[in-house]
Amino acid sequence: MRFSLDSALIVLTLAHALVTPVSANEDKEPKRHALRRASRGFHRSALRHSAGLARDLRVALRGLGSADTARAPVAARNTLANKPYCVYHTGGQTNTSVNTNPFGHPGHSSASSKPSATRSSTTSPTSSPAGQSNFHLAQSYSGSSFFSGWNFFTGGDPTNGVVQYVDQQTATSSNLVSINSAGNAIMRVDNTSQVSGNRNSVRIQTQFTFTGGLLVMDSVHMPTGCGTWPAFWTVGPNWPVEGEIDIVEGVNNYTNNQATIHANTGCQLPTSNVTALGISGSVVGGTNCAALQTNNEGCGVRASQTNSFGEPFNNNGGGVFAMLWDNTGVSVYFFDRQNIPSDITAQAPVPEGWGTPSAFWPASGCNPFQFFQNHAAVFDTTLCGDWAGGVWTATGVPGQDQSCAQRTGVATCQQFVQQNGAALSEAYWEVKGVQIYQSN
Ligand SMILES: *[C@@H]1O[C@H](CO)[C@@H](O)[C@H](O)[C@H]1NC(C)=O
Ligand SMILES: *[C@@H]1O[C@H](CO)[C@@H](O)[C@H](O)[C@H]1NC(C)=O
Ligand SMILES: *[C@@H]1O[C@H](CO)[C@@H](O)[C@H](O)[C@H]1NC(C)=O
Ligand SMILES: *[C@@H]1O[C@H](CO)[C@@H](O)[C@H](O)[C@H]1NC(C)=O
Repeated sequence: MRFSLDSALIVLTLAHALVTPVSANEDKEPKRHALRRASRGFHRSALRHSAGLARDLRVALRGLGSADTARAPVAARNTLANKPYCVYHTGGQTNTSVNTNPFGHPGHSSASSKPSATRSSTTSPTSSPAGQSNFHLAQSYSGSSFFSGWNFFTGGDPTNGVVQYVDQQTATSSNLVSINSAGNAIMRVDNTSQVSGNRNSVRIQTQFTFTGGLLVMDSVHMPTGCGTWPAFWTVGPNWPVEGEIDIVEGVNNYTNNQATIHANTGCQLPTSNVTALGISGSVVGGTNCAALQTNNEGCGVRASQTNSFGEPFNNNGGGVFAMLWDNTGVSVYFFDRQNIPSDITAQAPVPEGWGTPSAFWPASGCNPFQFFQNHAAVFDTTLCGDWAGGVWTATGVPGQDQSCAQRTGVATCQQFVQQNGAALSEAYWEVKGVQIYQSN
């Protein structure tokens, strides 16, 4: 297995080198780490069968955007298209009527030409009176019982990080998960001084699943520093058919959060014009969100707030991320610690009053109940791998004015992470709570 993988890797990497211009600019990041997703949401059996191949393809196609895909090795393209994904579900959620107002969004309905029409019929026919929430709490994870109701993922990291995800018992006994004196959930990575292989880490997924609704996550600290790659996201069991919504994600020293959707063929962002979308973030990749057509680049949006990720987020006491999934589309909001809406704190959320979202993928381009279904929420922290390792020598993204290779003086991410456990002291999540709401 190893032999054939390496051979394939050499061939594909060579082909990749021939078609990809060398660039130190990290703006290409969404394309660089595109294929890592391909196996992230895999069904276990698909993962077992294709992990090695997917890994090779990720290396080979890293840096290739949709335009470049046509020039990717034919064998790679064919194999990619034929990857053994799970059998598609045919049942499931029935279609919900989707509003056709292209960029209608509840968060800025006053700016919309059709304010009330942007509300879904299942959520509310009209805007709710100020202060009255149309949601009820379906699941809540906080305090000493935070970790009940999650499954600990123990497979290999599909994104090729230098981590081994461990089970709950191992994570607890080795103090990788705990509840601190403030009652917050801690998830860290192993920080012994030196390791020769992977570092133990944690990836957890809610047992509760949902289709539509509102997900709120309040954290006071997230993993940061060179080599880290934390994420908080949602995904359905049948990927990419049931889609993936990345709410919090970034790497290394990044300071601005990136939210991204990955979906089945047919899902797109109708425009990259942020004014038309009515978002405060910026579109960082393409507008085709189809995982299988764009090397899983997804549709990524970078938040404008320089304290929405990493060290500045932590220094500010963190904040709240919210993902609203209704008939208008999927939106992601970020509120820093000082600007958390009181209705969120009161657990009676009224998104209509939250103003402009960071990111929004309107229903007109991507039916949110067709392309996203049965999602669980996931936290993970990986190290290096396709994204954090892939941009180790790169600059050009907010927070990364200097590359991690320069900052650390170490040539590779893996070498740095394996030999500097003490440098991972900031590589932990501290989460106040996660709430999943459903509409009334
Ligand atoms: C679901 O919605 C999509 C997009 O609007 C449509 O193409 C499809 O035919 C619908 N499926 C059903 C079963 O109504
Ligand atoms: C960047 O990462 C390095 C290495 O982990 C860390 O020492 C430094 O504090 C980080 N700087 C910022 C601004 O995040
Ligand atoms: C972006 O959208 C806004 C609002 O629809 C429009 O006024 C503006 O001209 C658009 N910008 C571009 C570059 O198309
Ligand atoms: C690892 O982290 C723990 C908990 O923060 C800390 O007490 C310990 O000193 C760290 N070890 C190293 C080698 O940095």
